[in-house]
Amino acid sequence: MIDKQNPDVMTPPIVGNAGIGLRAPHYQAILAEKPDVGFLEVHSENFFSDGGQPLKYLHAFRERYPISLHGVGLSLGSADEINIAHLQKLKRLADAIEPTLISEHLCWVGVGGRFLNDLLPLPYTAESLRHVVSRIEQVQDYLGRRISVENVSSYLEFVDSNIPEWAFVQEVADRADCGILLDVNNIYVNAINHAFDAKKYIDAITPGSVTEIHLAGFQDTGEILIDTHGATVSDPVWALYEYAVSRLGSVPTLIEWDTNLPTRDVLLGEAKHADAIMKKQTRFTPYLSGKDVHAA
Ligand SMILES: [Fe+2]
Repeated sequence: MIDKQNPDVMTPPIVGNAGIGLRAPHYQAILAEKPDVGFLEVHSENFFSDGGQPLKYLHAFRERYPISLHGVGLSLGSADEINIAHLQKLKRLADAIEPTLISEHLCWVGVGGRFLNDLLPLPYTAESLRHVVSRIEQVQDYLGRRISVENVSSYLEFVDSNIPEWAFVQEVADRADCGILLDVNNIYVNAINHAFDAKKYIDAITPGSVTEIHLAGFQDTGEILIDTHGATVSDPVWALYEYAVSRLGSVPTLIEWDTNLPTRDVLLGEAKHADAIMKKQTRFTPYLSGKDVHAA
């Protein structure tokens, strides 16, 4: 079992300063200008190589900022065995970088050895809950670290689902003793696509179990919202974020932007907007150990 008495030994993000997703076109400028952001987040899989330029860059960023490792390929919800080679690479990276947080998505990305290149939702049932909890425990034991799991956006639902998504997410965190990376944009996208009250989702999340918040932009097709990570955060998502912060405290917050990359100024402007909302709140939610989360 992992030693949860000895919580994540890592540099915490700067209080009240939002982080930004770090993407290659911005590497040079961010190293040169050292913008005032709370942390940087990278996709873990981009740094799985034995060495080379990407890893050199990551070490250089790590000297200046806390780093959050965000994975997209572990397929926590799949019926396939956990990919141990993938996990080995993640452990090696985490041991080298000492990230402030390791996160994965509460989803599956393939089955039967086939990779589908998408973050697909789970059926929200007691059976899939038991399954994904056991997989998260396996990952945490292997890494010797607590991870956080992120709620995903979705465009369809399983007819077998009989647990509300928000209850499923919280129950996973409680049973697996992991954190929640709460993507507020994904909540809004799903609330519109599946017609539920986004605030009800936030209300169901236990303050103290959320270790990070994601914000991003979506595309409105007229029929559904698509989580593109390719635009500024929308006004209703900012409003929902403000509601989330009022309930959960000023949780370390990240601006995600993966497609149609903006200039650094636009990205940093979004982070400043999040800072301003956090600074209106008096409560700050630090990263907590598993023990603390359950005592909270
Ligand atoms: Fe996200």
